[in-house]
Amino acid sequence: MELTLTRPDDWHLHVRDGAALVSVIAHTARQFARAIIMPNLRPPVTTGAQASAYRERILAALPADSDFEPLMTLYLTDNTTADVINAAAAEGSIRAVKLYPAGATTHSDDGVTDISHAWDALDAMQAHGLPLLVHAEVTDRDVDVFDRERVFIDRILEPLARRFPELKIVLEHVTTRDGVDFVLSHDDNIAATITAHHLLLNRNAMFSGGLQPHAYCLPVLKRETHRAVLIEAAVSGNKKFFLGTDSAPHAREHKETACGCAGIYTAHAAIELYAQAFEQAGALDRLEGFASHFGADFYGLPRNTDTITLEKTDWPVPDSYPLGDSTVIPMFAGQTLNWRLRD
Ligand code: NCD
Ligand code: ZN
Repeated sequence: MELTLTRPDDWHLHVRDGAALVSVIAHTARQFARAIIMPNLRPPVTTGAQASAYRERILAALPADSDFEPLMTLYLTDNTTADVINAAAAEGSIRAVKLYPAGATTHSDDGVTDISHAWDALDAMQAHGLPLLVHAEVTDRDVDVFDRERVFIDRILEPLARRFPELKIVLEHVTTRDGVDFVLSHDDNIAATITAHHLLLNRNAMFSGGLQPHAYCLPVLKRETHRAVLIEAAVSGNKKFFLGTDSAPHAREHKETACGCAGIYTAHAAIELYAQAFEQAGALDRLEGFASHFGADFYGLPRNTDTITLEKTDWPVPDSYPLGDSTVIPMFAGQTLNWRLRD
């Protein structure tokens, strides 16, 4: 059996920088035409000039024959002015702005400490139609880690959507029924990305047979009832839900340690993992819209015109891949996947 799709895009991706970037970028470029590149470098990408320089480094790291297109984003801070947004919009290559609540996840220390600090920037984004990409988790120590998305929606996102009713918002890597309901209850300016790992795994994966650091990401995996809602949303054919891997490579030694980093690496097999999830849901015919059409439509970009083909063939996922001078352990390392992208 085989499946041919319009070439997909990845609307949420971490590719890092330097030697790690060189190690991972080919995995994404062989499947996807474009990807929204997350700006959480150290230091973060906060200006158009930094984004252009980062874009050049990504292009330089690509295999020679690749026409993969990185879509750049800015990292919203307490100090992002309307001028920075206006300049980015005028320059044209910035596709979105990412909101990390300060301290919510990897390299988010420079994130927004209070959303009111961002009102001028958000006003400018609304005026320019520049999407806000949201890491939707509160950071309060007294909120249970499994409830942080729901509480963020109640406290921050609903009021934000009311204050900026035209602002394009993507609830990135949605993980809960509450997140899906939020997206469904608003107009078409509000959408969500869904990762392959949140479609395929529930929180048991973090504890099966012992503590599993490679199943730890943020937002953290949730219980099965939430996973079922994510599957339903992904296969619904609703254009508000589209593919964003949140593939987040970390060196093995930074995962397998006393205080391990959050992030799951899925770029090695992203479209294959989504195919598996859609097939399990009996909805392979819905994969193309989710993976290849709806994201481009939301961002106001043309859909891709070429195609990829997946074959139903078993293949073993390697135990690791190189990552700079270390290695990264991919999702389902050492296990068998049953869809394979034809080269
Ligand atoms: C991401 C990373 O490692 O940069 N980690 C993750 O668990 N998803 C950051 C993020 O998107 O939260
Ligand atoms: Zn991410």
